[in-house]
Amino acid sequence: MNNAQLLELAKRYGTPLFVYDGDTVRARYRDLFRFIPYPGLRVHYALKANYNPAILALLRDEGAGIDAVSPAEVAYALRLGFPPDRIIYTANNMTDAEFERVFKTGVVMNLGSLSRLKKVAVQHPGATLCLRFNPDVCDGDSAATMTGGDLTKFGILLDDVAEVVRIVRGGNLHIVGLHEHTGSGLQHMESVFRSMENLMKIATRENFPELEFLDFGGGFKVPYRPDEARIDYVTMGKEICRKFTAFCKEYGKDLLMRFEPGKYLVAESGWLLTEVNTIKHNRSRVIAGCDSGFPQLIRPMLYGAYHEISNLSNPGGKPQTYDVCGNICETGDRFAEQRELPEIREYDILAIANAGAYCYSMGGVYNMRSMPGEVLVADGEVVDFRPRESDDALIDRIMGGK
Ligand SMILES: Cc1ncc(COP(=O)(O)O)c(C=O)c1O
Repeated sequence: MNNAQLLELAKRYGTPLFVYDGDTVRARYRDLFRFIPYPGLRVHYALKANYNPAILALLRDEGAGIDAVSPAEVAYALRLGFPPDRIIYTANNMTDAEFERVFKTGVVMNLGSLSRLKKVAVQHPGATLCLRFNPDVCDGDSAATMTGGDLTKFGILLDDVAEVVRIVRGGNLHIVGLHEHTGSGLQHMESVFRSMENLMKIATRENFPELEFLDFGGGFKVPYRPDEARIDYVTMGKEICRKFTAFCKEYGKDLLMRFEPGKYLVAESGWLLTEVNTIKHNRSRVIAGCDSGFPQLIRPMLYGAYHEISNLSNPGGKPQTYDVCGNICETGDRFAEQRELPEIREYDILAIANAGAYCYSMGGVYNMRSMPGEVLVADGEVVDFRPRESDDALIDRIMGGK
């Protein structure tokens, strides 16, 4: 989407505003099937990345499945018309009640601890399940998004496979899938291969004779910085296919290969548009104060993440260095620190890029500022607009109608 289109949307719907480009989401989904030409590839969108219903409808119509991580995400995907067999529930630290609620829906549960597996073997002998293993590979775009290795809470250790097999046999459990997820924003192609290999090593006929799929999680990286290279997904996809095909031959059955991308499908499809209302000269710093804030796009503050920012109103302005700050009562409320941008004037509209993944969905109403409106554009048309919650509606919600 170009600057003029974004500016027009900011004018039409007001700021702050999330804009999503449905064509990009669709293209990224289709790309994966081109990159990984394995006939049994299944893509389960990690819905936590962005749960906008219009984006989900678009992916559902493309044939995507869902990776859900809470009972509400499962219920939501079912309500949106994703069939149960296209949903996987990867819980961590789930309660007994949560297990029971999702188990009843028929959605395959992906268990990531020996403790839960033991309980299920006793309470639901004969159950059909998927098991999540810790791939023992550390990678991700920040320490907080690495999900392999000793420091994470996720998955069953590969070392525990003999114990797993013992429990599974004891409970007559049917293990139809094995799963691993290495992290978000994987920096090295090698990590994907090593994690796959580690999972495939334990996925033997002897250990798990009833497998239907292996699920290699998400983590496909997209560039956030202008100088960041795009991963060569064609080369990576070919190698993934080669490894998996060899594995299936060894296993003696053509299994389904699943991936669960979030960021890859939606990150680059989104922008947060925000208006600058205050320029302040603080001796050594120039502060551009906006009408959004970190609860609406928390990645810079939470992970030190970089998001590209452009000045839509003055793209040719003389470059100057700014701290781009929000409207929240916290000093750390910055989208960018000491960033060179075309001169910013009060009432200019800024576009924060790569705002399609883990921005709205990680958002909150801290300082009692409602989340921005959201608009989805596809084929050059606005196909969905969700207005911002009014202050009165927010107050009513907090007061619970009292
Ligand atoms: C189990 C699981 N699958 C998939 C994903 C999606 O990751 P990403 O958005 O990096 O593709 C995540 C997020 O970290 C996850 O925890």
